[in-house]
Amino acid sequence: MFDGQKLILRDIPNLHLIDVYINNGGYETARKAFSMKPDEVTNEVKKSGLRGRGGAAFPTGLKWTFMPKGNDKTKYLCVNGDESEPGSFKDRQIFEFNPHQLIEGILISGYAMGINAAYIYIRGEYHRWINILQTAIDEAYAQGYIGAGMREKFNNNYSIDIHIHKGAGAYICGEETSQMNSIEGRRGYPRVKPPFPAQAGLWGMPTTVNNVETIATVVPILQMGGEAYSKIGAQGHSGTLLYGVSGHINKPGVYELPTGTLLTEIIYDICGGVRNNKKIKAVIPGGSSMPPLRGDEIDDVRMDEESLKKIGTHIGTGGIMVMDEDTDIVKITLRIAHFYHHESCGQCTPCREGCGWMEKILKRIASGNGSSKDLDLLVSICNNIEGNTVCALGDAAAWPVRGFVTKFRDEFEQAISKNKSFIAPNVVHGKRKTASNLVFER
Ligand SMILES: Cc1cc2nc3c(=O)[nH]c(=O)nc-3n(C[C@H](O)[C@H](O)[C@H](O)COP(=O)(O)O)c2cc1C
Ligand code: SF4
Repeated sequence: MFDGQKLILRDIPNLHLIDVYINNGGYETARKAFSMKPDEVTNEVKKSGLRGRGGAAFPTGLKWTFMPKGNDKTKYLCVNGDESEPGSFKDRQIFEFNPHQLIEGILISGYAMGINAAYIYIRGEYHRWINILQTAIDEAYAQGYIGAGMREKFNNNYSIDIHIHKGAGAYICGEETSQMNSIEGRRGYPRVKPPFPAQAGLWGMPTTVNNVETIATVVPILQMGGEAYSKIGAQGHSGTLLYGVSGHINKPGVYELPTGTLLTEIIYDICGGVRNNKKIKAVIPGGSSMPPLRGDEIDDVRMDEESLKKIGTHIGTGGIMVMDEDTDIVKITLRIAHFYHHESCGQCTPCREGCGWMEKILKRIASGNGSSKDLDLLVSICNNIEGNTVCALGDAAAWPVRGFVTKFRDEFEQAISKNKSFIAPNVVHGKRKTASNLVFER
């Protein structure tokens, strides 16, 4: 059923149609899983070494074991397709090209954990992909692959319902606990943990949150067996990844490749190299929230969590952002800081105040009013945000800023000194600067 190394973005025309999916072995792996005990299914996922594709690379099988056993409580699965981080655009490929594999993955994961209902949380702007997925769900219901009809279809006692929940444009609703609040119709504020979702999640019931790609990957794992899957890709972070490659490259796009593929192979061989043969100044390997690499650091870098961790960054969502030699690093850092400031939910002080403060300082530097002390201040703010917030948005805001400022300090220094001489008249918004409004601005 699965050929070569494409386990998700399979080269089968019209695979989004249920008949085509079924003719290519679709829903047979769910049947196989239903013939096993739920714990055996979880064990296969544990053996496979699958790690979550939503950003934190948490071991999926282990996460599933946190769910309580027994049928006394309703249990939920949130399938996270919010995908609102700059540089991350891979889950929509699954919605578009292989929605039934996602549905089959939900059936198998749901069976393993005793889930009663799954909510697929989709970024609200994804109108096209919401329509494709809804059609796939409707077709699967109509043919008895979802809902009450499953009992007859699979000759089994298990059934699950699947619903789509559209996001309303807030990046924070990708965070698992604010996502649950959002599904419940509340404001998308992250919840303080503990309790963890497996203890008290959606409507206070045991809940697991997994990324779309994670859940779609469960199908090939059960089909080929956990051990066989664990041999694909890098040790410690097995399988294939959907790498979303963007920026100054000739062939941007989403590519399914084994974990551990060389970053340079992805950029030069698969994506056709850098536009106009320019040199690379920086690469963010896993979406905008991850620490960047300098262009002279990317040789021999392998794209898996263990390899990237060793050099101070992470795989994140596998969103590779390539910046060429002409990129203005100060502007990029400001743009990223603006995003996280805008998206901070404002619930906790280090993130709410720190993100705003960082943006203000970066604006000051970019507009010619910064000083070298500002660079130390930025690093200090990042250090004080990191690890001190309710959710990981704080880290996501701090990591790229600290990474850019420390790795490209010379460019920030240059911006400070160049702009200082350039704006000699010292005029801001048509008003002459005085010592007091300078202080106020800081
Ligand atoms: C601000 C923020 C945004 C996030 N956005 C997403 C997202 O869009 N999709 C996603 O799968 N995980 C996102 N996450 C991670 C989720 O909280 C959660 O860890 C993930 O969905 C778990 O799935 P996994 O174990 O399969 O990776 C986000 C986390 C944070 C802090
Ligand atoms: S870290 Fe930021 S986004 Fe997360 S809860 Fe605190 S203020 Fe909200």
